[in-house]
Amino acid sequence: MNKTAIFFGPLNGSVHRVAEKVRDEIGAEKVEMVPVKDASAADLEKYDKIIFGISTVGSETWHSTYSNADWGKFLPEVDKVRYEGKTLAIFGLGDHITYARTFVDHIGLLANALKKNGAELIGKVPADEYEFEDSKAIEDGKFMGLPVDEDFEPELTDERVKKWIKQIRPAFGF
Ligand SMILES: Cc1cc2nc3c(=O)[nH]c(=O)nc-3n(C[C@H](O)[C@H](O)[C@H](O)COP(=O)(O)O)c2cc1C
Repeated sequence: MNKTAIFFGPLNGSVHRVAEKVRDEIGAEKVEMVPVKDASAADLEKYDKIIFGISTVGSETWHSTYSNADWGKFLPEVDKVRYEGKTLAIFGLGDHITYARTFVDHIGLLANALKKNGAELIGKVPADEYEFEDSKAIEDGKFMGLPVDEDFEPELTDERVKKWIKQIRPAFGF
């Protein structure tokens, strides 16, 4: 399918809101919104161009009743798919003040799951554009996706999304 899919979760929070900003910046008619809650490996297979939206909620909540259990359920589906030849990028919600030492860790968690299955990710972002102490999302001085902090830097979100879409546009061919 030629459309870009945004696989995002959980519903109705910051990830959802930013996913809609990403969609609008690309152009809604070029995008399919896919909540990961009920998605499967077969849904991932359908698309050659995928943007993932995830938040970091700490490993202790990963399998709990907190709504990010959406990703807890979906990650095994991610593991079933091969990603060679697909165009892929990640944005991730986090909180750089309260969780400075684990800032957007789940960008890293997801990126590593994808890379294990042949993915090449685009849309990396220099770490020095953010204040934080540590993150599992960093590789060679770059975040493996776009960090967004709606808790403490919501005023920066629109500009971050705009700049990032501009960066990934050529590879995605929006
Ligand atoms: C229980 C809990 C744990 C969190 N742990 C982290 C963390 O380790 N790193 C981080 O960057 N943000 C962390 N956050 C912040 C969330 O990622 C942030 O609030 C995000 O915007 C939530 O988006 P969502 O509501 O769409 O899931 C945590 C939030 C909660 C509630």
